[in-house]
Order: sequence, then C-alpha cells, then structure tokens
Amino acid sequence: MVTNHKLYIGLIGLGGMSNYYRNLLSRVDAIQLSAICDVNPEAVARVGEEEGIKEENRFFQIEEIIASPNVDAIIAVAPNNIHAKIVEVCILNKKPVMSEKPFTLNMEEAEHLNTLYQANQVPFVIGFIHRYTPSFQYAKELIEKGAIGDIHHIDVKYQQSFGAPFYDTPYLWRYDKHVAGTGALGDLGAHMIDAARFFVGEFESVSALMKTLVNKRIDPRTNEEKEVMVDDFTSFQAELEKNVVGSFVTTRNAVGSANQLEVTIYGNLGTLNMDIEHPNEIRLCIKNSDEDPVWKTEAVPEDHKNKSLLDDFAKLIKNEKCSNVPTFDDGYINQKVVEHVIQAAETGQFIKINSNREEGK
Ligand SMILES: NC(=O)c1ccc[n+]([C@@H]2O[C@H](COP(=O)([O-])OP(=O)(O)OC[C@H]3O[C@@H](n4cnc5c(N)ncnc54)[C@H](O)[C@@H]3O)[C@@H](O)[C@H]2O)c1
Repeated sequence: MVTNHKLYIGLIGLGGMSNYYRNLLSRVDAIQLSAICDVNPEAVARVGEEEGIKEENRFFQIEEIIASPNVDAIIAVAPNNIHAKIVEVCILNKKPVMSEKPFTLNMEEAEHLNTLYQANQVPFVIGFIHRYTPSFQYAKELIEKGAIGDIHHIDVKYQQSFGAPFYDTPYLWRYDKHVAGTGALGDLGAHMIDAARFFVGEFESVSALMKTLVNKRIDPRTNEEKEVMVDDFTSFQAELEKNVVGSFVTTRNAVGSANQLEVTIYGNLGTLNMDIEHPNEIRLCIKNSDEDPVWKTEAVPEDHKNKSLLDDFAKLIKNEKCSNVPTFDDGYINQKVVEHVIQAAETGQFIKINSNREEGK
C-alpha cells in the first residue's frame, strides 16, 4: 500500500488490552488512531473523547468500521469468539489487520480463515507481542550467533495469579468455552508456543495435562455461582524440530506471579534465561573457558529496545522489510498446536503434529 499520509487505524474492542495498543499507537509515527468500535456505547464515548475521535468515526458494528473509507487498517482487540469474524471481514474488504491471540476459537475457524486467506492475502499480524520484549530480541540474536551452541531443550512457563482462589475473581468471558475457546492454554499457552516457535522452530508432537483448579465463580450479573468451562492449569511436553525437547507450564493460580512469562533455553555450550517482568536484562551461563561457567546478568543493548509489533505492522502494510513479525502462518500453526495439546490432554496420548499449513493436516 502506498499512502502519503499516516496509516489510519480502526481499533476494534476498547477493553483492557486496548490500552496497551493505544499507548503503542501513540509511539509509532507511521500510524494514527482514527476510528474506534465497540458494542459498549459507554466505552465508545469515553475512548472517543479521550482520543479526539470524530463522531462519524465511532462505530458499534465491526462490518461498518472495517468497510469505512476512513480506515486503512484494523487493530482488533476483541474477545476470542469474534477474532475469526473480524479477520474474515477484513480479508473480504482487503483491509490489513492486526488481530489478537489466540488466532481463533478452534481449528474449524482456523481452517476456514486459511482457505479465505490463501485466496486473497492481506497484510496480517497476530498479537504475539512478547517476541518484541528486548531480552527476547537479544536472545534470538545470541542464539543465531551460536552463543549457546546447539539447542537441546526449551523450558517455558507463563504464570499469572489473578485466578487464585482468594482473589475471588468473578466469572467473565475468559471462563466461558464458547467465548474463550480454552482458558490458560489459548490465553497464555499460545504465547508459550509462539516463544518456542520463535526461538527453536516447529512442534512435532505433544503430550499434555489440562486442569481446572477453581471450577466455580460468581457471575456478577446474577450473583450466582457459574461453572468454569475452561482450564486454569495446562502443562505439556513436546518434541520440536532439530531434536529439541520442550517443557511448558501455564497457570492462572500462581500467587506472586502477576504476569510472568519465563523462557530458559539450554544449548550444548550454555543456557539463556529471560522473563517479561525484567524485559531489559538477560541471564547467561555460557562456557567460554576451561572453567565451569557461572550465571551472569547482562543488560540488553539499546538497539534491541526500540522494536514493536505495530512498527512491524506498519512496515508490512507498506511492503517494507521487517523480520520476525508474527504473521498469518504463525497464528494458524499456533492454533494447530493448541488443538493438538487439547487432543493430547483428552486422550492421554503423545500426539504427532504436522505443522505445515495444508488444510486438514
Ligand atoms: N497479546 C497479549 O498479551 C494479550 C493480553 C491481553 C488480552 N489479549 C487479547 O485481547 C483480546 C481482548 O482482551 P481484553 O482483555 O481487552 O478483553 P476485555 O473484555 O477487557 O475487552 C474486550 C472489549 O471488546 C468489546 N467487544 C465485545 N464484543 C464485541 C463486538 N462484537 N464488537 C466490538 N467490540 C466487542 C467489549 O465490549 C470490550 O470492551 C482477547 O482476545 C485477549 O486474548 C492479548
């Protein structure tokens, strides 16, 4: 796309995560928030005022904002059950789209989008924002330079505490299978899968355990207990390409972990460890002398600190070079791994995955 103005962005979904994107949008020169959409009129009025959005660019229907001639591209931060619908309407309207994770509610939706997308590609980015954590960008460079040698094991944990019993978090859409798809797995596990694919490569097989520790919550609309339909703990182990093994744990009941994604990568020459609560440092234990290696904490160099998902989204739209951006394939393949983790947990089997994107595999 060639434009001589900033790219005008339409933002769909004005809840919690939209604040992250509004903040990021204000820091990327190439793009500008110009339209908003939510089914909640109060949210539209509030954000409309805060962002100075013209009345004619405030929408309540996704079809209308996506078709608007005042919108060059969409950023979609809506609940999981409408991700596929938004992406479908964007493809049909030839509008570039950044859509949040998980890619879709289930594999059936993912296959449907894949068929549409293959016939009519638009610039597409999925919200795997943690790739852009400075320490993750730096670790990727260190691995490519051979700093830890050949990788043999990646260990990933994504832990949050908001579901812990004593917080009494009320029932919300994240606990409803029909809106969320899965619980901790699709919400946090999708980021773990993306981290493993980012640093190592494709998944080949998985075995898994999925549990719901807190299985009833109070629905604030009725003040009555409602059944939680999704997992709040999932662990899986995997074989990845190049003979790498992976171990993964995600939970919403980890008291003390507000929002903690931690990755440890073991190679034959050393180990790297990083986490998103300390985004600007990396811990290394690397053998480069006859002595036993010791752990060192290193500050991430400045040139790894200025990358963002939305910078790359703008570059992708303008057909400029950008590497490591999470694309349609990353969303589709991620969903396929999520689906296999569910199957593995349900059957108790170790299940093979074909990570290519041919339909039905
Ligand atoms: N990448 C990340 O790290 C990350 C972090 C948090 C959330 N997310 C994702 O962002 C998405 C939104 O999460 P959230 O925490 O902001 O949820 P939220 O419930 O706080 O906000 C969702 C918003 O979408 C609106 N909405 C619902 N249906 C709609 C429709 N049909 N059309 C337009 N708007 C609609 C709601 O009114 C609400 O304002 C989810 O898919 C979630 O997985 C990603």
